[in-house]
Amino acid sequence: MTGTTTRPAGPEQLRSRIAAELERTRARTALLTEAVDEADLTRQHSPLMSPLVWDLAHVGNQEELWLVRDVGGREPVRRDIDDLYDAFKQPRRDRPTLPLLPPQEARAYLLTVRDKVLDLLDWVAFTERPLVADGFAFGMIVQHEQQHDETMLATHQLRAGPAVLHAPPPPEPTVRVDAEVLVPAGEFTMGTDTDPWALDNERPAHRVHLPAYAIDAAPVTNGRYREFIADGGYDDPRWWSPAGWRHRREAELVAPMHWRRDGDGWAHRRFGRWAPVRDDEPVVHVCYHEARAYAAWAGRRLPTEAEWEKAARWDPASGRSRRYPWGDDDPTAEHANLGQRHLWPAPVGAYPAGASPLGVHQLIGDVWEWTSTPFRGHPGFTAFPYREYSEVFFGDDHRVLRGGSFGTDRAACRGTFRNWDFPIRRQIFSGFRCARDARPEESQP
Ligand code: AVJ
Ligand code: FE
Repeated sequence: MTGTTTRPAGPEQLRSRIAAELERTRARTALLTEAVDEADLTRQHSPLMSPLVWDLAHVGNQEELWLVRDVGGREPVRRDIDDLYDAFKQPRRDRPTLPLLPPQEARAYLLTVRDKVLDLLDWVAFTERPLVADGFAFGMIVQHEQQHDETMLATHQLRAGPAVLHAPPPPEPTVRVDAEVLVPAGEFTMGTDTDPWALDNERPAHRVHLPAYAIDAAPVTNGRYREFIADGGYDDPRWWSPAGWRHRREAELVAPMHWRRDGDGWAHRRFGRWAPVRDDEPVVHVCYHEARAYAAWAGRRLPTEAEWEKAARWDPASGRSRRYPWGDDDPTAEHANLGQRHLWPAPVGAYPAGASPLGVHQLIGDVWEWTSTPFRGHPGFTAFPYREYSEVFFGDDHRVLRGGSFGTDRAACRGTFRNWDFPIRRQIFSGFRCARDARPEESQP
């Protein structure tokens, strides 16, 4: 019913896989924090973001709390800094004024913690205790650091000054992608019970029935989004929700974040470089309200989270839900634009190997996709291992985003992975695709 998983053959394979994931992740953290000087590391580049050096030591502190102290049962390395790096005790706007560890001390702290974790990894038994079964706590900490690496990438995007990050452009399109795909009415399995490193909010697996609907075969592109702007979409309250219109006016939104007029067209700033906006790339840096307004203008709507997941995972041939659109295998560079290999979304048609059985493209990677669904627990949800990962964010304040972006690591992205944010946020790598109800004549089996 649910995806089979690539379960490691034994504890020794699991140990080496964890060690490799920890090391690969730390290399990314190092790259993002060594690309700028000490002043840049300690500065707050936007009130929405932490200083990079806060993220850095916070990553080490979470690793210490969960792996060194809880799993390992060892004495604290630095109990004195726990409060400083507790995201709930320190609002973002206060973080630059805290007595944070200076960069060199933060790096030394991370090394000390990591040494203890690698030692622990040599002797830990992956017992049935839920925190350690299948190496869950290690997987959680790898995903946590990768999530902060994406947050740090978003901070880099907000940073003023010349470019310091470099990567090759994403691949060019190799196929034409249809406008939309019809998904027949029926049940599918949403969420998972079997993916060992899936987080609490992805569980449990449960059956969901959806009426027939159509969903865009690719994310909405800059070209289409420009038509919405040119047609006066930002000035017409008909397309916006009341809250969206209020925000559009207060924040004076006129285009996606980081765009500016460039002659007759548009340019956007990406990691310190201005480039002409390319029509066939997915639009990025739009908030939920903008996505919703575009969809209304286009005579469509945003997909629900369940509609997104069925389009991404449901295999009509077998009736089961896959881990990813292309199957159960972990992503490679052929499948999706993930992992900060490229620094912006790929044009539509660049990842044919990543399409779902129904022919929906670029669901994983490129841009996080806004859905219309408020963030809540799946039926039967239980917080694990701490309420502050997901549960405290449940409610109407946050909308769910799915699929990951070019800045998301493969370890923190699956067909079941759920992200969430406030509907006004657009410093994240967020885009969207549209959906609509099927017409009666399309719903016939
Ligand atoms: C799941 C991306 C919303 O960054 O706020 C990081 C992930 N949780 N540290 C966030 C997270 C705790 C979280 N998001
Ligand atoms: Fe965190």
